[in-house]
Amino acid sequence: MYNKPIGIFDSGLGGLTALKEIVKLMPNENIVYFGDTSRVPYGSKSRETILNYSMQDISFLKSMNVKIIVAACGTVSSMLNEISNNYNTLFTGVLEPTCQAALRASDNHKIGVIGTTATIKSNSYKKLINKLDSSYTVYQVDCPLFVPMIEYGIINSDDVLVKETVKRHLHSFINTGIDTLILGCTHYPIISEAIQNEIGQNVKLIDSGKETARFVYNLLKDNNILSHKSEIGQKHFFVSDSTENFSRIANIFLGENFKLDVKKIDINQYSI
Ligand code: DGL
Repeated sequence: MYNKPIGIFDSGLGGLTALKEIVKLMPNENIVYFGDTSRVPYGSKSRETILNYSMQDISFLKSMNVKIIVAACGTVSSMLNEISNNYNTLFTGVLEPTCQAALRASDNHKIGVIGTTATIKSNSYKKLINKLDSSYTVYQVDCPLFVPMIEYGIINSDDVLVKETVKRHLHSFINTGIDTLILGCTHYPIISEAIQNEIGQNVKLIDSGKETARFVYNLLKDNNILSHKSEIGQKHFFVSDSTENFSRIANIFLGENFKLDVKKIDINQYSI
């Protein structure tokens, strides 16, 4: 069991921010990553569509015989949170780890959340924070242009397009007094520098990828299934669209220049 891979999925490249942190914490783990690049973005779609896509993604990872499934996607985690996590495999989304970290980080109990439209509409982060502690005020803003911009590889904090897009979306936080901002979408850490510049250096950013990696480590440890290998783990990437585009932008995300093992699959073949 312990040498089975960790399965990670996202609508596209965003989940790589979680993968990167998982690799940092657990370099010896084998990893299978699926990015549903032919159907990204999920965040502008209906709850029903996102749930159907997520079930197929989970079904694919189960076919890869993984020991844990990580929904490294704020949008998927927000939808799945409402139904039971009964996948017969260890499972986590990004919601719980991220909200717990935000509660620890905020001194004035004013937390901002940015995410996709579906995530913000679901109120998932707000509901969970207030369930954990009702004394926190949560301000939420959806940022529908962030994911397409990032998937296209426009991520440099000096880029005028990045600056302007971030400015427009974060405008609503002026005068809220938040001291903590949850990056409620796993794509957003890629433009965290631009977000930090706009929101101000005194606001703490919570990176869902980083928090989820810690959470996964603890889950594997508690279940006694951390890898026993001493060599570096293997990484296999699967996508539902062009492998070429994925490799090019994935390396920017991962900050590496590797020849990635990327294969294309037909995700519609996997049952809902
Ligand atoms: N990385 C996904 C998330 O965390 C992006 C969602 C999308 O595809 O719109 O929400």
